[in-house]
Amino acid sequence: EHERTFVMVKPDGVQRGLVGDIVARFEERGLKLVGGKFMRIDRDLAEEHYGEHEDKPFFDDLVSFITSGPVFAMVWEGQDAVAQVRTMMGETDPAESAPGTIRGDFGLDLGRNVIHGSDTEEGSAEREIDLFFAADELLDYERVD
Ligand code: CMP
Repeated sequence: EHERTFVMVKPDGVQRGLVGDIVARFEERGLKLVGGKFMRIDRDLAEEHYGEHEDKPFFDDLVSFITSGPVFAMVWEGQDAVAQVRTMMGETDPAESAPGTIRGDFGLDLGRNVIHGSDTEEGSAEREIDLFFAADELLDYERVD
């Protein structure tokens, strides 16, 4: 399915200078960048974005971490974009992620796991894209490979 997904370099990834490498991986793979925003997430947005984790013991740490510094939020488009990004990211726990994946190459810490990508649940990607981007911030053009 040709679709869009929401991706974000988390504060640890920004602080470690990984934005360019991560963008390059998705570009080289053939996905199309249709939105990008360097921003600081406030508490309200964090709590809404991570709403499904509200009752988890790590929720407060998660909100503190994601609001602790700037993130680079993106929308990527392509064939099976949601699943492709998930595959390229690796597992939630970087320690269990294979080398070659973004988390497998750059992370070891479960909380500070460098990157977020929408999960494959129906409607997740659309929900997150709408939360972070206005319609006129998503730009269409032809990708040439
Ligand atoms: P992500 O899948 O992007 O969104 C939820 C985040 O919660 C996840 O990345 C991890 O960074 C974090 N997380 C999941 N499980 C734990 C845990 N047991 N302890 C701390 N953080 C966690």
